[in-house]
Amino acid sequence: MNDFYKVIMERRSIRKFKPDPIPKEVLERIIKLGMWAPSAMNTQPWEFYVFSNAARERIGEILGKSYKNITPRLKELFLEKMQNIVRYFFSDMGGAPTIILVLSKKLPVEQYQQGAIQSCAAAIQNLLLAAHIEGLGACWMTGPLWVEEEVLAYLGRQDDARMVAAIPIGYPDQTPPTPLRKHETIHWLED
Ligand SMILES: Cc1cc2nc3c(=O)[nH]c(=O)nc-3n(C[C@H](O)[C@H](O)[C@H](O)COP(=O)(O)O)c2cc1C
Repeated sequence: MNDFYKVIMERRSIRKFKPDPIPKEVLERIIKLGMWAPSAMNTQPWEFYVFSNAARERIGEILGKSYKNITPRLKELFLEKMQNIVRYFFSDMGGAPTIILVLSKKLPVEQYQQGAIQSCAAAIQNLLLAAHIEGLGACWMTGPLWVEEEVLAYLGRQDDARMVAAIPIGYPDQTPPTPLRKHETIHWLED
């Protein structure tokens, strides 16, 4: 299979990490690849905060508080085993040595805000694929959006930013099964 296709299909969400630190130049490389994503009106509305060491512990504690908000939805969607995996993951972000927060510019017009959030999402996917090529694992997380206000207050960014996602990242300490793609929702309209 074409190498690029393989990278896309073999990337997995990783929720358990080795404690080994990630060299700063590797983090910088993958974040810069994130920034090569397309963006609405070329606004490049993303910002990346990279937390390591004591800073990572502090932000991890704030993000972990979101678990209680997502439990009803988890119960709806998953069996008990998966609920337990997610609870353990949120309690310490899987032991990831680094957590990246992705912020978007805050915009007053809904349509422009949407464009900014989608641009950030494109950057996140680039970053995740680049991390995979570097032998790293990561998990794109929006569960912590439940504590967006607290996160933005902690960063002093309530007035000009929106939180898009948290990404715990590190060297994988698990090989998760591949979740099958459930739907093939392509609508071909040809005449
Ligand atoms: C927008 C978005 C939000 C997500 N939020 C979470 C999250 O809060 N917690 C989590 O454990 N996984 C989260 N995930 C990861 C998905 O659960 C995962 O991508 C999906 O199960 C498919 O698995 P794969 O990434 O290994 O292919 C999120 C993924 C996306 C794209």
